[in-house]
Amino acid sequence: MSEKKCPLNREQLEELTKEYPTPFHLYDEAAIRANARALKAAFAWNPGFKEYFAVKATPNPYIMKILKSEGFGSDCSSYPEMLLSESIGVTGEDVIFTSNDTPAYEYAKAKELGAIINLDDISHIEYLEKEIGLPELICCRYNPGALKGGNAIIGHPEEAKYGFTREQLFDGYRMLRDKGVKRFGLHTMVASNELDAKYFIETAHLLFDLVKELSAELGIEFEFVNLGGGIGIPYKPEDKPVDLTVVGEGIRELYEKAGFTSLDVRLECGRMVTGPFGWLVGRVLHKKNTYKQFVGLDACMVDLMRPAMYGAYHHITVPGKEGAAHDVVCDVTGSLCENNDKFAIDRALPEMEIGDLVVIHDTGAHGHSMGFNYNAKLRSAELLLREDGSVLQIRRPETVEDYFATLDFQGLKSFNT
Ligand SMILES: Cc1ncc(COP(=O)(O)O)c(C=O)c1O
Repeated sequence: MSEKKCPLNREQLEELTKEYPTPFHLYDEAAIRANARALKAAFAWNPGFKEYFAVKATPNPYIMKILKSEGFGSDCSSYPEMLLSESIGVTGEDVIFTSNDTPAYEYAKAKELGAIINLDDISHIEYLEKEIGLPELICCRYNPGALKGGNAIIGHPEEAKYGFTREQLFDGYRMLRDKGVKRFGLHTMVASNELDAKYFIETAHLLFDLVKELSAELGIEFEFVNLGGGIGIPYKPEDKPVDLTVVGEGIRELYEKAGFTSLDVRLECGRMVTGPFGWLVGRVLHKKNTYKQFVGLDACMVDLMRPAMYGAYHHITVPGKEGAAHDVVCDVTGSLCENNDKFAIDRALPEMEIGDLVVIHDTGAHGHSMGFNYNAKLRSAELLLREDGSVLQIRRPETVEDYFATLDFQGLKSFNT
């Protein structure tokens, strides 16, 4: 069982909080870079391999710029995510626009950027053609339905709102071919937080077979398959990380067996790229004993909603008390008027005192980015631990002014009731 560590110890965190009060998310640049290199190494056998970082996981341009320097592109799902990508100079086919229920202005932005458009539905072919015209290169998202099992986060593929059915793919690519589209990619995204390496190898198998069938039937050539994201991370200390070499080598074997030579393998992972390298740091604000014991933090569900949304496990440590007996069973809560605002339920932790620092692990992806403002709570800062040990604030905390920015208090004066 691996011990979960934060790169800064209690003294270092206490020092940091003099400048940046809790709560904040802290990211580790060196660890993000090392992991990015391990992912690339696992697919080095495929010269066209590219990871398009799923911007939704951590939509911070500083993090994205680090990933750009490691050769990653962007997987964008909305207009603002495309603007973020543009802001760091990731444009053209280094961007894949994987969206659903998409408004025309978002497709227009994708076209302006020269991004690869990944269609979610067969009806979007005509929509795209009518609204902005068809690009030369297009990708379609496959939903394999019952052919592939899902999981609690992403659901079963046949229940999921995403993608084309198998039959629709044949019709869709035929339509695209007949309308003059020349270049093609195939995409799927069927897993979320999956820890079994075999799952991704099977997904590649599914897409490789489909590429062969589509090519044979329609006489079109595919430039790439995008296996989506979904590589899981070990949220629990007893979880084992996905062995990327096993995934890469398993896919290589299938690739070679299928006789591909120029097909590029692409991924659009988010969680495994930044997830384990982020920590939400807060402090104990109150302790409460009623029918059970509660430890209330200065952070809440607006800073990390995964536990409340999915019942997801996030490991918690108390800096300076790592070695202490974990003999207090408590709920670790935030301050929202929602009883599911709990980072942990019935968790055995060391005895905590008011003012203790608390570290919630694995918040580097789908953490800050899932934040919201219910109860008029303000979202926390994001800090980056640089490779030289310095710390840079890469997003300041929200202020009351940010929260009120969309309200017109001047207009309120002449609003008669
Ligand atoms: C289309 C698409 N691609 C990629 C991702 C990234 O997934 P993960 O962060 O689990 O790798 C998601 C996550 O929601 C997604 O919906």
